[in-house]
Amino acid sequence: MITRIVAVDPAQPDPAVIEQAAQALRAGCLVAFPTETVYGLGANALDGEAVARIFEAKGRPATDPLIVHLAHIGQLSMCASHVPPAARKLGLAFWAGPLTIILPKKPQIPDSVTAGLPSVALRVPSHRVARALLEMAGVPVAAPSANRFSRPSPTTAAHVLADLDSRIDLVLDGGPTDIGLESTIVDFTVDPPVMRRPGGLTLAQIQSVVPAVVAIAARGHADVAQLAPGQLTRHYAPRAELTLYDGMADKVIQRVAADTRTLAATGARVGILAPEDDLVALAPELAALASHGRVEVQPYGSRRDPARAARELFAALRALDATGVSHILATSIGPEGLGLAVRDRLARAAEGRIRRV
Ligand code: TXA
Ligand code: MG
Repeated sequence: MITRIVAVDPAQPDPAVIEQAAQALRAGCLVAFPTETVYGLGANALDGEAVARIFEAKGRPATDPLIVHLAHIGQLSMCASHVPPAARKLGLAFWAGPLTIILPKKPQIPDSVTAGLPSVALRVPSHRVARALLEMAGVPVAAPSANRFSRPSPTTAAHVLADLDSRIDLVLDGGPTDIGLESTIVDFTVDPPVMRRPGGLTLAQIQSVVPAVVAIAARGHADVAQLAPGQLTRHYAPRAELTLYDGMADKVIQRVAADTRTLAATGARVGILAPEDDLVALAPELAALASHGRVEVQPYGSRRDPARAARELFAALRALDATGVSHILATSIGPEGLGLAVRDRLARAAEGRIRRV
């Protein structure tokens, strides 16, 4: 299959281009498109065969349900059998935007979309290209992030192609995405409602509208049942072995420096993924190691600007991994703002290798 790439102005999408993409969706094709969070890989959510192609293209396990994207909140009743008032209130407050709501599903949503669950995840994205596409397609669009299974989510069309070239029909290239990590997922099939994935909206923003929403507790055995399905499988995993360092910034920096020295001495090629401020603090150590030529550093945003850290994280992770390092030592920003979601993605990429210092 040849993948077509079409550039589209994110501020003013050309209706002729969008109509072509909408037709492709209606015909059962796979179309990658930008949203304000990350690029999605779309298929007509009412077409079970098209949905099956998403799983095939991504190499995604069928047990991991998809998010259904809608043009506007008025389409909720096409997909959900019941909309509790609190869910509607949250949707009215934050849609179009980086919010996904889980509700009981209507029978016309194929089981392949929801991995056999009686519930469906729904989201109204705000990106102009996504909105225009959903509007013109006229059908709900199932769209996971447009990456191969277990890879970081794509924040540019180039990331989509790196993973899915010749596996999908079309990529709409609307430039880099704004938020850079995925939507916040809130499950309204349980009482009280649960935030199942931190993302582009903070818990504080959500609780300002629906105070009853609770966060999933810190990860542990007891919380497994609380996680969204598919969240225990490999996610965001680079080829290199990534370790996340947790703790006070200055302690973490000292420990990263020490472990970098130890690893480099064994001949390992080490990459450091950290906010700019941490890399500045590490600079003297790194200068001493530079003669070895074994350490790659990759900044993502800064501790003072969690939104920029979120925007740059996945591209930074991909870039560092592409240098061929064998080990990545990562530090997170603090939990303020999007920091919670940033740390969540790094913790998943670490697959349990979390060093508390
Ligand atoms: O920002 C986003 O949400 C992006 C863009 C493309 O919209 N999409 C995205 O999709 O991140 P994906 O497939 O990478 O993550 C969707 C996750 C699943 O892994 C699953 O954990 C959860 O949503 N999910 C979907 N349906 C669910 C359901 N019925 N119950 C619980 N969790 C569900
Ligand atoms: Mg994903």
